[in-house]
Amino acid sequence: MKSSIYITRRLPDSIVESLEAYFEIKMWEEDTPVPREVLLRETQNVEGIYCLLTDTIDEEVIKGAPNLKVISNMAVGFNNIDVEAAEQRGIVVTNTPGVLTETTADLTFALLMSTARRILEASDYLRNGDWDTWSPMLLTGQEVHGSTIGIIGLGRIGEAVARRAKGFGMNLLYYNRTRKIEKEEEIGIQYRELNELLAESDFVCVMIPYSPSVHHFIGKDELAQMKTNAILINTSRGGIVDEEALYEALVNKQIWGAGLDVFEEEPVSLHHPLLSLSNVVTLPHIGSASVKTRLKMAQLAADNIIHVLNDKSPLTPVNS
Ligand code: DGY
Repeated sequence: MKSSIYITRRLPDSIVESLEAYFEIKMWEEDTPVPREVLLRETQNVEGIYCLLTDTIDEEVIKGAPNLKVISNMAVGFNNIDVEAAEQRGIVVTNTPGVLTETTADLTFALLMSTARRILEASDYLRNGDWDTWSPMLLTGQEVHGSTIGIIGLGRIGEAVARRAKGFGMNLLYYNRTRKIEKEEEIGIQYRELNELLAESDFVCVMIPYSPSVHHFIGKDELAQMKTNAILINTSRGGIVDEEALYEALVNKQIWGAGLDVFEEEPVSLHHPLLSLSNVVTLPHIGSASVKTRLKMAQLAADNIIHVLNDKSPLTPVNS
């Protein structure tokens, strides 16, 4: 008899077909997050859950699914899953690292450039009919080439951002929980303590995975240490930055701008104060959103389930 799995969102046909070859599938067919009660009901008898970062797979879901063997997240971040609860039950949790690294770094750099050079503001300015003449200081932004970028978290994506920054002739700094001496020479990046990095950088890029221990890692005190011309870029998880403190820092001109692809609550409310500021570029969590990369992520998440439920080692496990 085939194992059964639950998929929490409509996936591209090719991915569903690859799973159907092995499993009995039930899937939430809508393009909206599966309602909690449906998730709890539909996962009761399954051996695998294929989920997205919008699904909270907590102790209640895990306890309610006694046959569960694998939870496969179609994302590299897995803060939506209670890994400890899964671990206690011997359930394998997997994510999708690697396949999205370069695409997310591309978007991070696009956000950095858009914020520094006021691209969206300038486009709106033209379309609103405000462009009367060329003038010396019109829509002037911050220099990118020759500036200093401080990368917080030199993981795969942080490193890929550093390589792009090097191509732009930027001076590279990083802070990481553990220093990566071998990378320093390889990439040409220098280590700084967090306070030093904040004080020296023109661009501060937050590239760390979210866990409760890094909640509001960038708060009032950290923002106060940044330069007045500095730009904060966050493409990791919203909870890492204290949004209230960021709003204050931007309004009080403690820092110059921010580029945000992620928010503490997603989708972010249209009434969120940060959305009222012209020096903030906001995106709807699209770091990895290229067709090729999203298909690779979806396939890797499928392959992880196929491996685990066929008694093979998971390709990209989060837990042991
Ligand atoms: C992830 O994978 O964690 C991103 O946030 C979405 O690609």
